[in-house]
Amino acid sequence: MNYENTNVIKHFATVTRQRREKQNRHRSAVVWFTGLSGSGKSTLAHAVEEELHQYCCRTFVLDGDNVRHGLCNDLGFSIVDRRENIRRIAEVAKLMTEAGMIVMTAFISPLRTDREWARSLLSATDFIEIYCTAQLAVCESRDVKGLYRKARTGELKEFTGISSPYEPPLEPDIAVNTGEQSLNVCVAQVLGVLAERGLVRGRSVNCSE
Ligand code: ADX
Repeated sequence: MNYENTNVIKHFATVTRQRREKQNRHRSAVVWFTGLSGSGKSTLAHAVEEELHQYCCRTFVLDGDNVRHGLCNDLGFSIVDRRENIRRIAEVAKLMTEAGMIVMTAFISPLRTDREWARSLLSATDFIEIYCTAQLAVCESRDVKGLYRKARTGELKEFTGISSPYEPPLEPDIAVNTGEQSLNVCVAQVLGVLAERGLVRGRSVNCSE
């Protein structure tokens, strides 16, 4: 339900996104990974985060398998529930950009309209779409969680790529071949895009943990 909340008045912070970004010495943004289950979204997102962290960036990874245990544990895998899943994630990611962070999201996010909605919630420069292109045959052969096998036998319904659609992005900021390339190569490609967007600065010596 969408309450209009006409009696709720926004409060504006004095510690703004701009001030946080200046303090962090980097812009905030959402790096949105999309791809089939088992395409390497989470692995890549966490590996990119590791690099960014070492560059003293403020980062966080929102990951489908984790978020579905908490914030979205009331949602299943119908088209409607997936849409609500993406809506919540995009709203959380937006809050995190206000908090000055580089947020990486690793969700199948199978539908173009839902990803475009997430993009529209943020500004065009704040949303960087990374398509993990590992093909269905590769993801299925990996079958790390055994879910493809269950989907093929019909034990698991509405499974992306088998019995539920996946719409590849038409114009992602980058398509990374997570099916064939090494993790290191994929990480370097993503970092290249982030550097082009002014998100990664030179490594600082003063941010060791
Ligand atoms: S999304 O479609 O709503 O974006 P999300 O990324 O949150 O999906 O969750 C996907 C993860 O849930 C998969 O990696 C897989 O481990 C698990 N999963 C369980 N059931 C399904 C299903 N029917 N379709 C896809 N993934 C599923």
